[in-house]
Amino acid sequence: MTTGLFITLEGGEGAGKSTQLAYIRQRIEAADIPLHVTREPGGTPLAEQIRALLLDHREESMASDTELLLMFAARAQHLAQLIHPALARGEWVLCDRFTDATYAYQGGGRGIDFARIAVLEDWVQGELRPDLTLLLDLPVEVGMARAGQRGDLDRFEREQRDFFEHVRAAYLARAEQEPQRFRIIDASQDITGVQRQIDAVLTPLLARAGEVSA
Ligand code: TMP
Repeated sequence: MTTGLFITLEGGEGAGKSTQLAYIRQRIEAADIPLHVTREPGGTPLAEQIRALLLDHREESMASDTELLLMFAARAQHLAQLIHPALARGEWVLCDRFTDATYAYQGGGRGIDFARIAVLEDWVQGELRPDLTLLLDLPVEVGMARAGQRGDLDRFEREQRDFFEHVRAAYLARAEQEPQRFRIIDASQDITGVQRQIDAVLTPLLARAGEVSA
């Protein structure tokens, strides 16, 4: 049975993820490929409620393990309700962040041991891993300056520069460990420059998908 392609988009704050997600969506849909665009944490009504727990500010601070487990609780729901069924139907899934974000934010940022994250990854996902991960990479100070222009910052966006340096380093380390899955996109370029890099990845992929379905 052919399953759909699972593509994830990752990056630090201010990397232009929303703009590029819309661009990737438009390119895949233009190729007439059935596609689900979704996000993490979130993607189903219940997982979106968990997202609100994770991002909202409250007086009680959230323990790192609570944060980690809630990320995977949301992911388990998302996989069961949306990602697994869509892939099984042969549809493509484009997800705004996935488990690489857990390694980057809860691992790199919060300092949770990567091995503990790997245990949860195996438990919740079984063998499922993204087929392709686009990492929008840019220097932390550039990203923070861009993100800081937004008004209302969530619990993660309020973190300090040091946290985001660790996030970036963890993302880059993962990309280095899995070069066949990751494509690093230089997100410090202007929108056209970033889209040119994305095209270089997507065009051959879409051409192959067209040949298979023809
Ligand atoms: P977003 O703003 O890109 O939608 O992502 C929400 C925040 O959640 C972002 O600051 C990164 C964070 N996050 C984690 O810390 N761990 C995760 O596993 C995921 C998916 C997101």
